[in-house]
Amino acid sequence: MTISIAVTGKGGVGKTTIAALLVKTIHDKTGEIVLAVDADPNSNLHEALGVKAGKSIGDIREELLKLGEQIPPEQGKADYLEGLIEGATVEGEGFDLISMGRPEGPGCYCYVNHLLRKVLDKVSERYKFVVIDAEAGLEHFSRRTTRDVDILIVVSDPTARGFMTAKRVKELVSELNTKFGKMYMVVNRVPQSFADKVAEEAAKVGIECIALIPEDELVAEFDLAGKPLTSLPPDSKAYQAIQKIVEKLPLKEAEQTLWWQKI
Ligand SMILES: Nc1ncnc2c1ncn2[C@@H]1O[C@H](COP(=O)(O)OP(=O)(O)OP(=O)(O)O)[C@@H](O)[C@H]1O
Ligand SMILES: [Mg+2]
Repeated sequence: MTISIAVTGKGGVGKTTIAALLVKTIHDKTGEIVLAVDADPNSNLHEALGVKAGKSIGDIREELLKLGEQIPPEQGKADYLEGLIEGATVEGEGFDLISMGRPEGPGCYCYVNHLLRKVLDKVSERYKFVVIDAEAGLEHFSRRTTRDVDILIVVSDPTARGFMTAKRVKELVSELNTKFGKMYMVVNRVPQSFADKVAEEAAKVGIECIALIPEDELVAEFDLAGKPLTSLPPDSKAYQAIQKIVEKLPLKEAEQTLWWQKI
């Protein structure tokens, strides 16, 4: 059974940083190859993971659409597509990465999307853990493009606006009856000097806050140098905080596996 974890939150709060460190930590703790999914159209998860970007699912969709009638007959189509997705999967140390790419442009995608979803479902079933770096903003919730995820991690920065966004995510999720096994909040870039005050404010959001991740100079330094976050040393405070998060996550209690609603 696959356990899917989606990381969401306001722009720039640290979703990609957290997703990359989750991928590394889950692999290190379980030995499993993790499927990392970059669901942000402005993809940069590959950089945080230290690999080159491959072809995106968006690119594959466009190719399929261009091929039209030339796609091999019915039975062969799924296999053909699986081959394309495999070709677009980037292999890293302890993970495979798929980038979703840009959302669809004009044109009739229904059939292609249906086919892609089916094949992506099949591909994701091969993995025990899927970590999704979701796009910023709430549109994907209102379009119901993010749903049926086992664990949703809502990231906030220690600001009133960040907490407000987290609250809106919670409200939207309950209004839309979006299915998440569990929802947690993580506050990132917390200055040590007022961590207590941040914890107090975070508690008012109404989502269980499982971690305050400290402001970590090493993260800034690695990002400045363009070094992958997966090579952060063990004394990185952010990395240590992610390890504690993984210990707390219910990684043995998968409920839903469908999440390919993005495309
Ligand atoms: N704990 C931390 N300590 C210091 N810097 C951090 C920390 N977490 C993230 N950053 C920095 O914050 C910036 C934004 O992080 P990141 O790209 O992970 O955010 P994001 O939510 O994915 O952004 P976007 O919405 O643009 O995709 C980066 O420059 C990163 O180096
Ligand atoms: Mg990002």
